[in-house]
Amino acid sequence: MSATGFDVERVRAEFPLLAQEVNGKALVYLDNAATTQKPACVIDAVADYYRTINSNVHRGAHTLSDRATSAFEDARDAVAGFINAPAREQLIWTRGTTESINLVAHSFARERLRAGDRILVSGMAHHSNIVPWQLAARAAGASVVPIPVTDGAELDLVALRELLDSRVRLVALEHVSNAMGTIHPVADIIAEAHAVGVPVLLDGAQAVGHMSIDVQALDVDFYAFSGHKMFGPLGLGVLWGRYALLAALPPYLTGGSMIEVVRMEGSTYLPPPEKFEPGVPAAAQVVGLAAACDYLDALGMDRVDAHVRALADRLLDGLAQRPWVRVLGPEKGADRSGAVAFVVDGVHPHDVGQVLDDEGIEVRVGHHCAAPLHRALGAVASTRATFAAYNTPAEVDALLATLDRVPTIFRLEV
Ligand code: ALA
Repeated sequence: MSATGFDVERVRAEFPLLAQEVNGKALVYLDNAATTQKPACVIDAVADYYRTINSNVHRGAHTLSDRATSAFEDARDAVAGFINAPAREQLIWTRGTTESINLVAHSFARERLRAGDRILVSGMAHHSNIVPWQLAARAAGASVVPIPVTDGAELDLVALRELLDSRVRLVALEHVSNAMGTIHPVADIIAEAHAVGVPVLLDGAQAVGHMSIDVQALDVDFYAFSGHKMFGPLGLGVLWGRYALLAALPPYLTGGSMIEVVRMEGSTYLPPPEKFEPGVPAAAQVVGLAAACDYLDALGMDRVDAHVRALADRLLDGLAQRPWVRVLGPEKGADRSGAVAFVVDGVHPHDVGQVLDDEGIEVRVGHHCAAPLHRALGAVASTRATFAAYNTPAEVDALLATLDRVPTIFRLEV
């Protein structure tokens, strides 16, 4: 039982992949921001779908298709409930956060952007919350303007206020930084944007599996996230949006299932969510994501949040005792989640990652798809450990103990 009252060993027992050795050492999986491992209930839900009801949802006039359709739509209710969406029709299945953002960028640009308009993006953004807006802006003669970042890897809220003028059509930012773990004061930012009539899209990829998300309380306009970062299957994401906004957007991907009437002269479309869900959907993954939501609900999001923060704090405490390590993100005590990025000056993060991997400790190295942020902080790349509900204090200690070999291996003067 952890200090936060969380029975982490019981959680670990639910994740079959964790019980293995890598390079002859017990696996320490600390790359959870990239993708999380899956509990047995999610693996079983996906396997059961294929074993018992696999068929094409919404199309077949046969019993199996009816069963698959019910499971698929029940899962929409479960995931909508998980983020407290007021209506199931507001929840659109995509292939991931990236596709969710691209959907809004593409459809929103076609409908709303004009020359001279601006989209504000976070200076800490993941590339998937920058590049789609660049294309959308270019198509309309609009521009993408970054919200500056402070030295402490937080958004400069004073600068943001100054940027929020009549040219701005949308603010797009991450709820939690994938690279640094910073939790932005999104409710305040949304309120300020709304005060000047600007809608807000949040990339919730690094938030939704770690903390309780309530899209109504946030008063956000679009919320995008991925299933695989919250114990769900790969290849499935969600776009939640206010119904009036979704209804006003033109479709993004088109084809079967999203149409009302098709004639060679032109077609009409179904209302959301179907308007944005062409083709055969990833029904098994959808059912798996609903199982992941049930699992997280049973763990208790507040307890998951506290556990992950405690692990990050433990690592930050350990790194603070090693003056040859520079932490890039916010300090301990700041509002931050379970991502800790650091550099060992004089050693490339890939080399640090190799030393850790040799001991079975899996972290991410590089710019973590946040190159502008790394540039702003004066680093080309970093080593990043990211935590999930199944990680333990002993794993943090293993990371620190292995890190202590780096100065010797690379002959640093420390
Ligand atoms: N966005 C994922 C990460 O931060 C892939 O690692």
